[in-house]
Amino acid sequence: MAPYPHPASAEAYVAHPVESIGGTVAVPGDKSISHRALLMGGIATGNTTVSGFLRSEDCLATLAAIRSMGVTVADEGTRLTITGAGADGLQPPAAPLDLGNSGTAMRLLLGVLAAHPFATTLTGDASLLQRPMERVAGPLREMGASIDTDQGTAPISVLGARPLRPIEYSLPVASAQLKSAILLAGLWANGKTTVKSPGPSRDHTERMLETMGVEVEKSAPNEVAVTGPATLTGRAIAVPADFSSAAFFIVAGLLGAEHGLTIPAVGINPSRTGLLQILRNMGAGIELRNERLCGAEPVADIFVTRTELDATEIGSELVDLSIDELPIAFIAAATARGRTRISGAAELRHKESDRIRVMAEGLATVGIEVRERPDGLEIEGGKIKGGRIDSAGDHRVAMAFAIASLRATEAIEILDTAPVATSFPDFPAVAAQTGLRIEVLTGSDRE
Ligand code: S3P
Repeated sequence: MAPYPHPASAEAYVAHPVESIGGTVAVPGDKSISHRALLMGGIATGNTTVSGFLRSEDCLATLAAIRSMGVTVADEGTRLTITGAGADGLQPPAAPLDLGNSGTAMRLLLGVLAAHPFATTLTGDASLLQRPMERVAGPLREMGASIDTDQGTAPISVLGARPLRPIEYSLPVASAQLKSAILLAGLWANGKTTVKSPGPSRDHTERMLETMGVEVEKSAPNEVAVTGPATLTGRAIAVPADFSSAAFFIVAGLLGAEHGLTIPAVGINPSRTGLLQILRNMGAGIELRNERLCGAEPVADIFVTRTELDATEIGSELVDLSIDELPIAFIAAATARGRTRISGAAELRHKESDRIRVMAEGLATVGIEVRERPDGLEIEGGKIKGGRIDSAGDHRVAMAFAIASLRATEAIEILDTAPVATSFPDFPAVAAQTGLRIEVLTGSDRE
């Protein structure tokens, strides 16, 4: 299989300070829900139509993976029609499945493959090959699958079994990916599989299982169960705009939208919106307008205006509800009056990069006083200077520093930005609609 794209630093951004931004900016579909629609549509009986699908590299890796296991997908841009293979219909892929940068694709697929009695190898890019996979392999082995990791990381070989044994499993971390992998495997177990979690995590899998006809038991907070064998029925899935992508513009609006900025039809699933609470604790006025449902998910139009923010405390409860939004929350903290303390966030070290270290280094480079802790940061709000940041190939770090330019005294250069396409294709062009000025340098410009 061809190596995944993104030779380091083949692309960079130069984010220029601008006076003011504003208007309306639509962000693309939700990444977590797009992955789930593909995987769950692929194992359902009947057709699943998906609207608002995110055509990012991560989701296209999942699309390629299900196709290589025999699922037919009619692809019309953001609209897909998946002809479900059913609970028994996936075929062994002819080659290893390359999931690129996507931890979600790898972990959720492992849950599905644990119940398919054929051998598959899962691999990915340099970042994904460093991320912890034993945490998902362990419970799936207990259920009966044979799984070999490479000292805890991918490449992973999996040989599924059927039926699986139902388990009652307590997760070591509040992770939606682990929870989802075990619940998906539980569809092929004989009996009730229960997942207990030390804190909340996004519940898109549970909502989609219910939409597709599977009962999900919620007997206690942070505890869910499915009873197998259970089969999914294909349905229409409407994907809302991704809160995690909107997050960059929520903070951008607070930093620079004199007359306000609107981000329409954004998913506001309460298991994802901790950033709103963090920013409100910092004094931000954020309006959720026209709250409504998009299928099983709540959405709203989000309106923000420029605000001077105050420092805050971010502890583990808010961390769980804002795990992907912390890089941009750190940028907000860097502009705030006073010292923001973030704790209980050690999990950030296992994302697409070590986001505690990489954000701390970047903030220090642009002149912000920052102290790194094992499980978080202390950030003293101050004046952001220009400078050259290494994003370490992490899409959310790259976008966060692009937004920081709104309060910077000079341009911020951000290296290794090609992976932004894993979650937010065309981010610089979309940002330009608000008035942000993010220049994209490619290999030849940089020589
Ligand atoms: C995701 C869950 C989160 C999140 C990731 C997407 C998902 O990871 O960081 O970007 O779609 O389930 P963890 O489950 O590892 O916390």
